[in-house]
Amino acid sequence: MGNQIHIPLTALTGGPLQPSRLAAGGVGATELPPASGRTFYLETFGCQMNVHDSEKVAGVLLRRGYRQVDSPAEADLVLYNTCSIREKAAQKVFSRLGQLRHGEGHQLVGVLGCVAQQEGERIFERAPWVNLVCGSASYRRLPELLAELESGRRRVVGLDTDTDETFETEFTRRDNPFRAYVTIIEGCDKSCAYCVVPFTRGPERSRTSDSILAEVRSLVELGYTEVQLLGQNVNSYRDPSPRRMSFAELLDAVAQIPGLRRVRFTTSHPRDFHPEIVQAIDANPVLCDHVHLPVQSGSTRILQRMNREYTREQYLERVEIIRRARRPISLTTDLIVGFPGETEADFEQTLTLLEEVGYDGAFSFKFSPRPNTAALSFPDDVPEEEKGRRLAVLQEKQRQIQLRRNQALVGSTVEVLVEGRSRPGQWTGRTSSNRVVNFTSPRVPNLGEYLQVCILAAGPHSLVGEQVI
Ligand code: SAH
Ligand code: SF4
Ligand code: F3S
Repeated sequence: MGNQIHIPLTALTGGPLQPSRLAAGGVGATELPPASGRTFYLETFGCQMNVHDSEKVAGVLLRRGYRQVDSPAEADLVLYNTCSIREKAAQKVFSRLGQLRHGEGHQLVGVLGCVAQQEGERIFERAPWVNLVCGSASYRRLPELLAELESGRRRVVGLDTDTDETFETEFTRRDNPFRAYVTIIEGCDKSCAYCVVPFTRGPERSRTSDSILAEVRSLVELGYTEVQLLGQNVNSYRDPSPRRMSFAELLDAVAQIPGLRRVRFTTSHPRDFHPEIVQAIDANPVLCDHVHLPVQSGSTRILQRMNREYTREQYLERVEIIRRARRPISLTTDLIVGFPGETEADFEQTLTLLEEVGYDGAFSFKFSPRPNTAALSFPDDVPEEEKGRRLAVLQEKQRQIQLRRNQALVGSTVEVLVEGRSRPGQWTGRTSSNRVVNFTSPRVPNLGEYLQVCILAAGPHSLVGEQVI
């Protein structure tokens, strides 16, 4: 499995090119073509799914002999992998495209990801110097689309979403040397009223358990000890192969792979979060002590308007199952404030839910009306200023909760995967519960090793400690 050494390291930025999965007979052994001399620049916005898609897109390009460069000015092909979850995120790519204009004529420009899918060929009208528009459900056609671009076609489009295929590549250029992402399910079949994802990423389609397990085994052979299973809703996973593994069975099977130390998974949808998942965590110490379970709102009335398919009480029942696990499991969430119709009383219920659950982390957002979503037709009736106020109140409350929960860890010893140096003489890494720990050590630790660290102090966002010898 040492085939990535065929590629000169100078040809890469961001990390080594690696075989991403083994098909029967081992595709990993293929020789790479000689360098085409072309260069590409790739910038990524959005969620971990997008980050990992970019790792695979880079794999496709490197496989074609392209070389990655660090600035758009140096590149023959400039690619933006975009996010359209909120208005602000979607706007970013148009400002990037505006800055590129000077390169018109010399450079090929591509828009990938969720804005590509959402805006489609309208992108050519707004930025006529764009040459490629391709959404994630069409990435499996990328080699063919790139070939068209290379042969001189000026407008190339991949916008189909009616697919049952997933995007798997022969090679992946992984950015994170410690944590390898593995897609298990793509797309989303839910229809939350505020969300563009079902539209931008297409219907749910799962990978076969064999293909997932083979990829994880190859990652362990490459030296990874931590993997993160990815999907918009990982717990909607349905094995399309005759093995018909459930998500919990898949977790069990991944956790059994020798050499793995940590398995994470994100995102879990509360509606499909079954007790078997907690049983799998109980049975396998390799499965991390962390569940990300987005609640969005603490008010059942708002949850119904959002079409989240659970009530506050049902959500709290899921939390109860997690709290009854044999070891403490850290819980994090996503929240939206100012959804259409959210009253002060609804917002208060979100605040009381924060207290009741005691989250270890939360991403919170002001509602942003999005195209092709049901909520676009609801009056966006919480004024911007009020959304800002609610967000600040919520974030302050969550900050206090996190501080309290982190301070309860002072005096305990935790296992940390060392990821880097935070400042001279201080190292940084993460616990199984995904907390950041900055720590001192009597020796220089190796990146990627696991150390025992005693916690001496805690802030809302990180812990401070010293290595226990
Ligand atoms: N699949 C995941 C989340 C996907 S998007 C899930 O179902 O939980 C990540 C987060 O962005 C969401 O959890 C939500 O909190 C936020 N979000 C999505 N659409 C939004 C919108 N229109 N306005 C504000 N926040 C939004
Ligand atoms: Fe969006 Fe809802 Fe699907 Fe999550 S479950 S991606 S919030 S539609
Ligand atoms: Fe953004 Fe698309 Fe992810 S909209 S959050 S990049 S699925």
